[in-house]
Amino acid sequence: MKKRVLSGVQPTGNLHIGNYLGALKNWTKIQYDYESIFCIVDLHAITVYQSPEELKRKILEIAGIFLACGIDPKHSTVIAQSTVPGHSELSWLLTCLTPIGWLERMTQYKSKAAGQETILSGLMQYPVLMAADILLYQASVVPVGDDQSQHLELTRDIAQRFNSLYGQTFVMPETKLPTVGARVMGLDEPEKKMSKSAPGSGHAIALLDPPDLIRKKFNRATTDSNPHVDFETMGPGVQNLLGIYQAFSEVSDDEMKAKFSGMRYGDLKKTVAEMVVSHLEPIQKRFAEITSEPGYLAGVLEEGRARVAPIAEQTVQLTKQRMGVYST
Ligand code: TRP
Repeated sequence: MKKRVLSGVQPTGNLHIGNYLGALKNWTKIQYDYESIFCIVDLHAITVYQSPEELKRKILEIAGIFLACGIDPKHSTVIAQSTVPGHSELSWLLTCLTPIGWLERMTQYKSKAAGQETILSGLMQYPVLMAADILLYQASVVPVGDDQSQHLELTRDIAQRFNSLYGQTFVMPETKLPTVGARVMGLDEPEKKMSKSAPGSGHAIALLDPPDLIRKKFNRATTDSNPHVDFETMGPGVQNLLGIYQAFSEVSDDEMKAKFSGMRYGDLKKTVAEMVVSHLEPIQKRFAEITSEPGYLAGVLEEGRARVAPIAEQTVQLTKQRMGVYST
């Protein structure tokens, strides 16, 4: 039997080339080796206020981007988290064995809660819901960025605690970090990982950005005070541009050196921009096709829901039985 892999993306902000190179591109490759579930985590998104119309639109947009990037809905399952009630149900059951101290230690929680007047308890519960997403399907492999490693450790701690209190129930999920080189930094701030929610208009290249906007953003990207590319002394901005080029083109280190050594920054930016544009154009074209068919994406999400609902139901029933909660 194939191992099950599960990952999730929040339907907020704009998916960008960092998400593509660090996650989506890899998912399209591994989808045939595993039984894959890709989850659009709308219940996670609402731990911070979202405009209802915008949220609904974003869920379908992300589903469209997944398919446009090459997720094959015949092979992989794409779901909107909230359509499977087991996520919320298991989340509560697991909340009842999660010490608050474990949640207070989460660095993502600490940074999101910092400076807020009112801290919503959903924000603190966020990692328990994530544990539920994973354990609900007994997923054994979870591909995530390194910023999510701590949440995966917590997932294993919760599973461990459950198994030792109530008997072996949950599979221990393993974290699968992206390969080095797939870490894309902000174009305006190359010290920071490219973010979906960073406000700067020159920060990220969104997967749906039109070609001219992509060129403009690369043109404004931060470099350093060298006159041209020098592989020995380059700063993080130039390194990031080269990393983006290499990740899209998949050329070797030697080819990179031969092509870029001594290149002026203006030409570097143009070359990288054209490489990115040529990769995103077919994705954008497929996205336009997919979204022009009314009801198609809703159908894919419904198919996904129907496929995984029985697995989720089985785990919830088993968990309830183990805990002694009334179950039929
Ligand atoms: N917390 C993840 C993020 O922001 C999203 C997520 C939710 C997730 N549930 C998940 C990732 C389950 C992997 C598995 O990136």
